[in-house]
Amino acid sequence: MLEIQDLHVKFHNRDREAVSGVSLTIQDGEILGLVGESGSGKSVTAMSVAGLLPRKRCDYTGRILLDGQELLHADRSVLREIQGAEIGVVFQEPQSCMDPLMKIGPQVEETLRIHTQMPKEERHQRALAAMAAAELPDPEGICDKYPHELSGGMLQRAMIAAAIVNRPK
Ligand SMILES: Nc1ncnc2c1ncn2[C@@H]1O[C@H](COP(=O)(O)OP(=O)(O)OP(=O)(O)O)[C@@H](O)[C@H]1O
Ligand SMILES: [Mg+2]
Repeated sequence: MLEIQDLHVKFHNRDREAVSGVSLTIQDGEILGLVGESGSGKSVTAMSVAGLLPRKRCDYTGRILLDGQELLHADRSVLREIQGAEIGVVFQEPQSCMDPLMKIGPQVEETLRIHTQMPKEERHQRALAAMAAAELPDPEGICDKYPHELSGGMLQRAMIAAAIVNRPK
């Protein structure tokens, strides 16, 4: 279960809060869509959950609990354990989030390399399965391509595969 309790985020270089008192609860297996106009704080809310706020450049208050564990104020070492293992992120701009110098396959497998002892071949098979689940055509061929060789939509799907490959909560 994920709980956000009265989340406020204010960037130092802005006059107004980016997130102003968001509270919500998501049960296991539940899907929640957050709807709002551009700039209303949806991505900043999501980044707060994923531990990706630029902490030095903003003030933030509230609590974010993943199965009872507080994330908003947690140490970086705690966040690193959770990122890519219990929480996966599909970023809004695939072009700016993939490493342009790394082939797609190793990027999709990255969380498995970091968080598991899985042998290379098993990682590769898991990556192929995640790419198929994200409905990428020809996963094997795409593993060997660089980000600039894919369309925007294919890159977004590759990023979905990278986010789910380690089966986050
Ligand atoms: N790193 C940052 N530094 C300063 N201001 C930021 C930063 N990131 C976001 N903001 C500001 O916070 C506000 C909320 O942005 P956010 O990206 O959460 O909007 P959004 O709801 O996801 O919009 P969209 O629908 O366009 O994706 C905006 O005013 C934005 O300019
Ligand atoms: Mg956004």
